[in-house]
Amino acid sequence: MKRISRFTKQSVPAMSALSLLLSVSTVGADEVEKAVDYRQGVMNVYSWNMKAMSNMMKGKVPYDQKAFAAHANDLAAASALKLMPGFPEDSESEESDALPEIWMEFDDFEAKHRALGEAASNLSRIAAEGEKGAMGEALKKAGKACKACHKKYKN
Ligand code: HEC
Repeated sequence: MKRISRFTKQSVPAMSALSLLLSVSTVGADEVEKAVDYRQGVMNVYSWNMKAMSNMMKGKVPYDQKAFAAHANDLAAASALKLMPGFPEDSESEESDALPEIWMEFDDFEAKHRALGEAASNLSRIAAEGEKGAMGEALKKAGKACKACHKKYKN
């Protein structure tokens, strides 16, 4: 009995500290993983639509104003999604290309996301009008909004 109680006294605090540590870091890692999946999912929606539009502009697939306008609409809708909850503080991980600068300059990061939202809604307005040259220009501006953020905040 004596030996067991000594064992218990010494180990219980150590074990509960360990299990607390483990449970905290497990929940944390799981939340980071979900946030990374979410933000990369949104990015892939952006990319899907940008690619389809630029393929039309480059003549890789036949130009179709209605299809282009639908992609522009989807890009505008996707860039109106709340993206910032996908970047909880310090959510870096091996699966992610997000740079720590995001959380050092979060206001600027957010502003770059808003700039994309504006470029994308402008693109969708212009695409509905259907003038190809103007659509190409507006598409370039949207592409620049992607690059402006990636250059600073993505690996
Ligand atoms: C506000 C900043 C910001 C803007 C604007 C932005 N991105 Fe990103 N993008 C990121 C960051 C940060 C990552 C890295 C995310 C990660 O891996 O956790 C990323 C990752 C990506 C990825 C890789 C996704 C994956 O599965 O790993 C693609 C593709 C992408 N972006 C496309 C785009 C396109 C296309 C646009 C413009 C229509 C765009 N992004 C606009 C910040 C931005």
